[in-house]
Amino acid sequence: MANLEVNFCGVKIKNPIVASSAEPTLNAHNMKKCIDTGVGGVIAKTMTDSEAMRELTTRSKWRFLNERHEVCQGKVPRCFSLYGRSGLALEPPEEFLPQIVETVEYAKDYDAVVIGSIASTELEGWVELAKQIEDTGVPLIECNFGCPHPHMMPGVKTGMEVGQDFEYACEVTRAVCDAVSVPVMIKVTPQVTSLVGFCGDLFEAGAKAVTLTNRFIGFVPDIETGKPLIYGQAGIGGPWIKPLTLRWVHNIRQAYKDKLFIAGTNGAYDWRDVVMFIMCGAHIIEMCSAVMVYGYEWLGKQVKGLEKFMEEKGYQNLDEMRGIASDAALPYSEMPPERAKVDPELCTNCGRCLKACFYQAMQPGDEATWVKEENCIGCGGCYSVCPVPGAITISIRQ
Ligand SMILES: Cc1cc2nc3c(=O)[nH]c(=O)nc-3n(C[C@H](O)[C@H](O)[C@H](O)COP(=O)(O)O)c2cc1C
Ligand code: SF4
Ligand code: SF4
Repeated sequence: MANLEVNFCGVKIKNPIVASSAEPTLNAHNMKKCIDTGVGGVIAKTMTDSEAMRELTTRSKWRFLNERHEVCQGKVPRCFSLYGRSGLALEPPEEFLPQIVETVEYAKDYDAVVIGSIASTELEGWVELAKQIEDTGVPLIECNFGCPHPHMMPGVKTGMEVGQDFEYACEVTRAVCDAVSVPVMIKVTPQVTSLVGFCGDLFEAGAKAVTLTNRFIGFVPDIETGKPLIYGQAGIGGPWIKPLTLRWVHNIRQAYKDKLFIAGTNGAYDWRDVVMFIMCGAHIIEMCSAVMVYGYEWLGKQVKGLEKFMEEKGYQNLDEMRGIASDAALPYSEMPPERAKVDPELCTNCGRCLKACFYQAMQPGDEATWVKEENCIGCGGCYSVCPVPGAITISIRQ
C-alpha cells in the first residue's frame, strides 16, 4: 500500500490533501465536515482583528463562470472560474478561537491536523493573533499575505497589501516567528513580479514554509447588461490557473530545495492536479474552489484517487514523486531540436495541419501531407491539431 504520510515542517500529516482556508473551513461545523472526509488537515478561515475584513464576509458573493466567463447555472465545467469576494473569519478572535480549540480536539480522533490562519492590519496585531492561535494547540500557523480584497479597501493594510510590500512582509514574518514556537507558513500573493527572492527573504526571517499562492483579482463584464458581474472587481481563480502556480512551485523548489517546505494552492481541482503539484515540489496541497462546487466529499475522493494512482504507478511514498518533474526541467539552451514526420498510411489528407504550420514545412500532397524537413523546426503545432492519432509524430532531430 502506498504511504501518503508527509513530514511538513516537522509536523506529520497523514496525507498531503488539506482543506484550504476559506468558506469550507469557516467555522467548527465546516472544519469537522472536511475532517470527516479523510483529509490530512484543515486550515481554519483566516482569523482577523480587522472589523472591515470581517464585515466584508457578511457581503460575500461568488459565481462559478464557464469558459466564456459567463455565470454557470447547473452545469459547472471542469475549467471553471470562481469569481468572487469574501472577507476573513466572521467572528472576532475571542469568538473564533474556541471554535479552533473544539476542532483541534475533534481532529485528534481522525489523526488530522488543524492549521491556524491569521491576518492583521498592524505589526503588533499579527504578533498578538499568532500567540492567541498558538494557544489553541495548532501545530502550524499560516500568515495570510495573499488575500486580494484589501487592494480594493483603502486603509486596510493586510493580505495582499502586505504580500506586495516585501520589506514589511519580512518584518511581520520575523515578529511572528519570534513570538511563537510552532512553525510558520507564509501564504503569498501571485500578484508580484517575482517570488523567488522574496521567498528566500521570508526563510531568512524565520518562515519554515511558503504557501504558493493565493488568488488574483479580476474584472468581468456581463455583455447583456453592460455592467460588471457581482457589482465590480473580485478575486478570480480556478483549475485553469494551475500552470501559473506550478511555475512558482517549480521555481521555489529549485531555489530552496533543502530549506523551505512548500504548500501549493490555487488551481488544484482533483487528485491529478495534486500529483502535478507534488511532482513540481509541493509537500501539501490546499484545496478550495472545487470543494465549493462539489461539497466536502470532494476532498475525500481526491485522497482515494491519489492513493490509487500511487499504487498503480508503484510509488511507495510521496518522497519518490516529489519534485521529479521540476528536477527534470531543462534550461532553454539544452532543449533539443525536433522535427515532425507524417505517416502517409494514416494521414487522411484533411489539411488541418497545413493551417497550423508557420515555417513553410508542412506541404500539401495528392494522397497525404508531407514535411519539408529542412524547414521543419519541430514546433509541434501540426501534431496538436491533427485529428488522426499517430498520423504525425515528433521526434528529436538526429
Ligand atoms: C470564497 C473564498 C474565500 C477565501 N478565503 C480565504 C481566507 O479566509 N484565507 C485565505 O488564506 N485564503 C482564502 N481563500 C483562498 C483559498 O484558501 C485558496 O488558497 C484559493 O482559493 C486557491 O485554491 P483553489 O484553486 O483550490 O481554490 C479564499 C478563496 C475563496 C474562493
Ligand atoms: S512541427 Fe511545426 S514546423 Fe514542423 S511541420 Fe509541424 S507545424 Fe510545421
Ligand atoms: S492533420 Fe493529420 S490527417 Fe490531416 S492532413 Fe495533416 S497529417 Fe494528415
